[in-house]
Amino acid sequence: MPNDDRRQSELRSFDNTKAGVKGLVDGGAFVIPQIFVHPPHHLDGITAKSCLSQQVPVIDLDGFNKDPQRHKAILEEILRASRTWGFFQVVNHGISTSTLEATLDGVRRFHEQDVETKKKYYTRDYTRKMLYNSNHDLYTSPAVCWRDSFNVIVEPGPLEPEELPEVCRDILSRYSKEVIELGTNLFKLLSEALGLDPNHLIDIDCAQTLALFGHYYPACPEPEHTLGTRKHSDYSFLTILLQDNLGGLQVQHQGEWVNIVPLAGALVVNIGDLLQLVSNDKLRSVEHRVVVNRRGPRVSMAAFFGRDTVGVNSRSYGPIGELLSEENPPKYRATTIRGYTSYFHNKGGDGISPLKHLEL
Ligand code: OGA
Ligand code: NI
Repeated sequence: MPNDDRRQSELRSFDNTKAGVKGLVDGGAFVIPQIFVHPPHHLDGITAKSCLSQQVPVIDLDGFNKDPQRHKAILEEILRASRTWGFFQVVNHGISTSTLEATLDGVRRFHEQDVETKKKYYTRDYTRKMLYNSNHDLYTSPAVCWRDSFNVIVEPGPLEPEELPEVCRDILSRYSKEVIELGTNLFKLLSEALGLDPNHLIDIDCAQTLALFGHYYPACPEPEHTLGTRKHSDYSFLTILLQDNLGGLQVQHQGEWVNIVPLAGALVVNIGDLLQLVSNDKLRSVEHRVVVNRRGPRVSMAAFFGRDTVGVNSRSYGPIGELLSEENPPKYRATTIRGYTSYFHNKGGDGISPLKHLEL
């Protein structure tokens, strides 16, 4: 069998197990199957230690909307972090540590429940409100990642509780509500930080859609040959990421990979491609990845605002007029979310951000 056919057939048999990477590990895999081996250029710096002098900024949101001096300082910190790193961590963000822990537990419980129950959710039909699979780009990416994920479309709602898996139903409903509140506050802060009316980003529907992804990265027998998530930027407006304490998330900064060190009770916030586009590069969507570990599983929950798989948002997005001037002309052509994501899905494997293709 030619190599390509063999690879396709291995991908299909892995997909057909519907048990994901966790299924391989439970089956006693002590080497990783060939389809998970990444080419060397994906694995640059994989064994390097983090650059200790550099850390993603940690922003204390306490005082937001209450103390005018703190409020102003928060706006400055957010703007600086978003234009230099594209990432920051937030503390005192309004979601309790017990809710965060319960959310991560819920993600773990979903992936560790009885396989037969879990399999019912296994599909690649992204119009489904709740689904689970391993690697959304399994058949198109150059190498498979050591990760399984579930995906819930929270907004547009309503999301009926019965549509959610029983093992994590209550906590997913609770976390969704709280993360929407935090997301709304962050969009207000970002609008203000850009010098716009606080409601600007909300008014142009940046928070109209919300998808939650519950990722599960099993312990990996050969972490130096694969990745949990390969290098990418997020095709959202904004992402709020909750990670557990194992670490593995890395962000590109000044040509280096920097570990985003887990901080108890904190959430990681990052600017997505669509916010880079509408802010005309004032805010930056930065590439990141997840490395895996012999220890595991690692779990995380990513909340994507503006990732619209159902196509409710038909607005066209280009650089915001108020941010443009003669010295600062538009850098991108306008696009719809549908146009943007279809590009991503078609060319997802080429590793080039779709933003590049919209540059003027
Ligand atoms: C993502 C992502 C990081 C993580 O879902 O886009 O970057 O830690 N996740 O799971
Ligand atoms: Ni991401």
